[in-house]
Amino acid sequence: MAQKPQTCAEINLGNLLENLKAIQDHVAPSRVIPVIKADAYGHGAIPVAKAITNNGFDLLAVAQFKEAMALRDSGIANPILIFGRLLPHELPEAVAAGFRISLFCTEDIDWIEKSTLGQPAVVHVNLETGMGRVGVIAENNPDFFSRLTASKACVWEGMYSHFSTSDEKDKEYAHQQLNRFNTFLARVQTWSKKPAIIHMANSGGLLDIPESRFDAVRTGIVMYGHYPSTETSHPIALKQVMTFKTYVSHLRSLPEGHPVSYGRRWVAGKPTRIAVIPVGYADGLPRTMTNQGEVLINGTRFPMVGTITMDQTMIHVGDASVHGGDEVVLWGDSSAGSLQLLALAERINTIPYELTCGVSSRVTRVYIGPHSS
Ligand SMILES: Cc1ncc(COP(=O)(O)O)c(C=O)c1O
Repeated sequence: MAQKPQTCAEINLGNLLENLKAIQDHVAPSRVIPVIKADAYGHGAIPVAKAITNNGFDLLAVAQFKEAMALRDSGIANPILIFGRLLPHELPEAVAAGFRISLFCTEDIDWIEKSTLGQPAVVHVNLETGMGRVGVIAENNPDFFSRLTASKACVWEGMYSHFSTSDEKDKEYAHQQLNRFNTFLARVQTWSKKPAIIHMANSGGLLDIPESRFDAVRTGIVMYGHYPSTETSHPIALKQVMTFKTYVSHLRSLPEGHPVSYGRRWVAGKPTRIAVIPVGYADGLPRTMTNQGEVLINGTRFPMVGTITMDQTMIHVGDASVHGGDEVVLWGDSSAGSLQLLALAERINTIPYELTCGVSSRVTRVYIGPHSS
């Protein structure tokens, strides 16, 4: 029986695992820390985590305590590094669950020492080297490292930093960050207590700055099958993991001069046909795609026309052979062809991360491939 038309984000776990294996081969002997924050960049953290951990990837990373707890509650027993700052009330549960806690400043050590934890907190120090977001600013926290190395409440497992420009062609600033990190690591090497896992590279770093791979790389976007930008090298044959699809819900003919959608931002230049798809910005199709986006129907590209609305978007199909119920690919791969998310993202001045994260909960995730049941 033919499949019922539906709007869905099809998540190909086979592609995810192939990408991960290719990344692991590329960075060996460094380890891969899969980054599955923000619901695995919109792909679904629990099914993604299950697929990954069944295939031998140990340490996972998320942004929030809540995200780590959801993984534990679903039965994922692996160590989970939390990038975000934990609040004092979250510490007892986080430590009991074995989460790896990122430290940002000396106050975090105070909080850990004042909490009743029952066991030491396993911590990773995020060192500010130029990202300008979070991480220990050594000069502002003069006693941070002496407190950490003396603390019986903390087990210092990891030390990391984060690049702000590793996805850009010009790697000068990234190398400055790396140099700052290396200078600090040289000091750490002289201490009696030092961390076992040093990590810095994100996707841009693991692709183009081999010296930043250290013991492990934190990989997000390349694992999901997208290069972080067109400016990095593209050495791995990545496969897109998400295919965002819908169907033609309605076909209509418009006379010459008929406007389409809010603001009349597109007007039919001649009598023509429009396919309506039941997807809009409430599903995660950015409104900035208005008159910019393209879709794939039966292997042919057609333009989105008129303002993207909350729930519906219009496609100009002219006199092509398009029928109600036909599958419409918004991005990703299908048997009839592929629409690269990175190209689409660049066209509307954004990044693939924002587009996959933005696919809303109204869109059903359908898992295919190994561990999809
Ligand atoms: C601290 C940290 N490490 C690693 C990553 C993964 O980055 P990417 O998806 O570019 O590999 C992120 C994501 O933004 C991050 O915040």
